[in-house]
Amino acid sequence: MTDKKIRLGLISALHQEQTGVIEQMHGKHCIRRGMRDYTSGSLWGIDCVCVLSRIGKVAAATTAATLIERFNVTHIVFTGVAGSAAQDVYVGDIVLAENLVQHDMDATPLAPRFEVPLTGISAFASDLDLSILVGQAAADFLGLDWISVIETQDKEAFKLKTPRLHRGLIASGDEFITSRAKITALKLALPEVLAVEMEGAAVAQVCFEFGIPFAVIRTISDKANENACIDFNSFLERVAQHYAFNIVKRMCTGLHANKAFKYVKYD
Ligand code: ADE
Repeated sequence: MTDKKIRLGLISALHQEQTGVIEQMHGKHCIRRGMRDYTSGSLWGIDCVCVLSRIGKVAAATTAATLIERFNVTHIVFTGVAGSAAQDVYVGDIVLAENLVQHDMDATPLAPRFEVPLTGISAFASDLDLSILVGQAAADFLGLDWISVIETQDKEAFKLKTPRLHRGLIASGDEFITSRAKITALKLALPEVLAVEMEGAAVAQVCFEFGIPFAVIRTISDKANENACIDFNSFLERVAQHYAFNIVKRMCTGLHANKAFKYVKYD
């Protein structure tokens, strides 16, 4: 049995979801592959590789596979934004994925709707231990940093009250959803869905197939309704980037202090 240090792959779809993180890296080294910049270095004591996947399931799957095969990451964490798919999940809340489903996967009659053919799986489970750590980072961010990190005018502009952390099902598909009717239809088939986005379940499938522990954490940017696009960019700039930066910071600091995590056991 040998011990190997954790090497964390950090993926976001958009640059605002990783703003400031790469500037914090020590010993930075950037390699360009398949139109993406993979920046390796140390983040708050943790060996990391940061990359922007760009948008959609193919983009995310390619990026995750490259992180695993070319950059030898041992774990993957995806940070970004999502649309709400539940009444009590508000803009500014955080959703931590317990499971992820590809809502546009439908290979019937070869496999039941949502099931990824040849895997027998519809909802890929995120890694429990890693998700506990990421969830703790998010809870601490909301409980300790949020009040001072998010500016008062932005709390007012986006009607952010007391944001909460939710854990549950995230649905991914190659569509930016801007219709409440679509969410209602999706909820008929998948009542437990808390949030919708465009990458998480693809990363989850790749990580499942390669045996890599992963976590997906999303800040709710919109209600996935007809107004979803109105303030989207401004939310990313004013709110979501602060969430992502501080959660990653707390997560790496937590990992650094956690011996059980810092070293991965290999047979
Ligand atoms: N990411 C953020 N908001 C989204 C939405 N409404 N649909 C899909 N992905 C999203």
